[in-house]
Amino acid sequence: MKSIAELGDLRGKRVLVRSDLNVPLEGTSITDDGRIRASVPTITALSEAGARVVVCAHLGRPKGTPEEKYSLAPVAARLGELLGRDVTFATDTVGESARAAVEAAGDGDVVLLENLRFNAGETAKSADERAEFASQLAGLADAFVSDGFGVVHREQASVFDVARLLPSAVGGLVETEVGVLRRLTTDPERPYAVVLGGAKVSDKLAVIDNLIQTADRLLVGGGMVFTFLKAQGHEVGTSLLEADQVDTVKGYLDQAKQRGVEIVLPVDVVAATEFSADAEHEVVAVDAIPADRMGLDIGPESSRLFAEKLADCRTVFWNGPMGAFEMEPYAAGTKALAQALADITADGALTVVGGGDSAAAVRQLGFSDDQFGHISTGGGASLEYLEGKDLPGLTVLDES
Ligand code: 3PG
Repeated sequence: MKSIAELGDLRGKRVLVRSDLNVPLEGTSITDDGRIRASVPTITALSEAGARVVVCAHLGRPKGTPEEKYSLAPVAARLGELLGRDVTFATDTVGESARAAVEAAGDGDVVLLENLRFNAGETAKSADERAEFASQLAGLADAFVSDGFGVVHREQASVFDVARLLPSAVGGLVETEVGVLRRLTTDPERPYAVVLGGAKVSDKLAVIDNLIQTADRLLVGGGMVFTFLKAQGHEVGTSLLEADQVDTVKGYLDQAKQRGVEIVLPVDVVAATEFSADAEHEVVAVDAIPADRMGLDIGPESSRLFAEKLADCRTVFWNGPMGAFEMEPYAAGTKALAQALADITADGALTVVGGGDSAAAVRQLGFSDDQFGHISTGGGASLEYLEGKDLPGLTVLDES
């Protein structure tokens, strides 16, 4: 994998940078700009080296045609503020506007192309279709820098195919992210705990399978925990349940026992009558969830238990909120967990918060980035890395 320095003198060269600028929006307001901030150092470094920087990125999951609500226009404005310089926004990806903006760019200038996923070639299953779009992108540049860590698990035109068409290097953000995750997979300082939350257990099966081989403790919260509780024989009321995964989860519980991996589940939950901030809710033990209620957060006893299980850990990876933290009555579990991580970070443990949701959660709950060892910009990407999978966006850089 080449570093940016190995691309040689970039003055006057057009450099295409794939960033992950997939930020949450409410209308046109960015609610968490973490990914934009994380992308700034590489763009700044290239601009200061005199490159003509052509940034490309996606937002959301449009289906290959332009949709106003997925426009990167608000991101261009925020990127300009953070860079402290004008960013020219091209209103298409590889069309007239993009070509004109790149043509007009001077040394050090920054252009942002419109959402890559407005073009069907970006995410096409067909390698030919992707290659066609990738060659149009490559036509805009002399070199490529891969800096969108959140997308390195995607075999997409701007992540994978374009790297084969241009001299390519790894950006600083991807380098940092991979460096931290490597510390989790290669001889982590122990005890090593992983905390998993979020809605669906089926999204996390592969990583759980892998973590049972490497972690000392696995703490589970969020919507996915109810499938675990069911596997232990508890009734879960109207909570989120993936009934078809109960047997798989039972298998994991058995495997963990055999390998001496401690699985820590909540002992109480906040049970509400419906998925709403105004719903009637109460704390109940996990063996007493009423049939007409759903668990929307871990309870206070569980928060204490989780903090206790993390207190002596030297390495912790956390992905996924403990409850429906966007609603104040169900935010306490996620907040307590973030606090437990911040406490052990202050004591010198390596803590890694992975994933857009968890990162947004800790910021929304009032924590700052420096209270944790590392806040990853990649959710799916960091999980797939921990699963031990080959990530196309990384392996392709090894070829160049
Ligand atoms: C993310 O939000 O995890 C990345 O930006 C990747 O987005 P995607 O899951 O839509 O490919």
